[in-house]
Amino acid sequence: MALGLQLRRQVLAGLLLCLCVGRWAEAGKVLVVPMDGSPWLSMREVVRELHARGHQAVVVAPEVNMHIKAEEFFTMKTYGIRYTQDKLDSLMKTQVHLVFEKVHWVTLFLKTMASLKNASLLFERSCEGLLYNKDLIRHLNASSFDVVLTDPVHPCGAVLAKYLSIPAVFFLRQFPCDLDVEGTACPNPFSYVPRLLTMNPDRMTFFQRVKNMLYAPGLKYICQVVYTPFARMASELLQREVSLGEILASGSVWLFRGDPVMDYPRPIMPNMVFIGGINCANRKPLSQVCTAAVVQSVLPGEHNL
Ligand SMILES: *[C@@H]1O[C@H](CO)[C@@H](O)[C@H](O)[C@H]1NC(C)=O
Ligand SMILES: *[C@@H]1O[C@H](CO)[C@@H](O)[C@H](O)[C@H]1NC(C)=O
Repeated sequence: MALGLQLRRQVLAGLLLCLCVGRWAEAGKVLVVPMDGSPWLSMREVVRELHARGHQAVVVAPEVNMHIKAEEFFTMKTYGIRYTQDKLDSLMKTQVHLVFEKVHWVTLFLKTMASLKNASLLFERSCEGLLYNKDLIRHLNASSFDVVLTDPVHPCGAVLAKYLSIPAVFFLRQFPCDLDVEGTACPNPFSYVPRLLTMNPDRMTFFQRVKNMLYAPGLKYICQVVYTPFARMASELLQREVSLGEILASGSVWLFRGDPVMDYPRPIMPNMVFIGGINCANRKPLSQVCTAAVVQSVLPGEHNL
């Protein structure tokens, strides 16, 4: 298992290396547009590794953020946004509160949507702060980056890559509404691939397949709410009608922080790479008690192995 993770990290580093070097033995310049919160904690390890291999990374982040702080292994560029730290903190508190709330699922859905709208306003403001910052954009455009590394779930980096015509490497867990499938033009049949939140297994009965179909519009609606502002900004900047699907379709490589151990198998394209396990870069060994419990639950009657 540990060897598998190690290998996967090497494959990832190798991939990024190939993308980043113009010629052999020449360091690449990577523009990193992270998603704040826990996704950054995984991406930070990739940036650390890129730096260790002689590449240069510039991380752009809003001044108001949770986890993205300057470190010695990258250059940080911040930009102002129309949002205050107090508002961000209260938004996070509301989100955390929601997770533990015991209410009817309809109430929970409505509350989650309201909170999501609030959160998407923050992401929109953050993206405006970056894309419409003329000085910063001029500077980034003049810096001739080789690649943009970004989490497309906050699609600002993807829009920026398209705007500056730089190849993009996407680093993500998953989209709630299959935008990744749209972006990679992957087959995604309802009868075969279980949709998020349905709790459907990979071998579905007829009714589970129907449920799979019924969830799709709801998930699409969530994405509509969250992502419309980004398509609007992209269309404004590129001066033509652009959909988010088109922006995402320009991704060169998709690095998924998933793994068949956690996710069901599904059709994939050659530019989709699974690097699950990278989330656990700073893992600690499990305690003996915990390991025994896991072994017992997975292998009943065989824990003498
Ligand atoms: C949304 O944000 C406003 C102002 O920041 C706040 O008053 C409101 O409680 C928030 N709503 C939710 C559901 O988070
Ligand atoms: C980036 O620079 C090139 C060359 O100077 C220019 O043609 C292009 O319009 C610039 N792009 C942006 C988004 O400013």
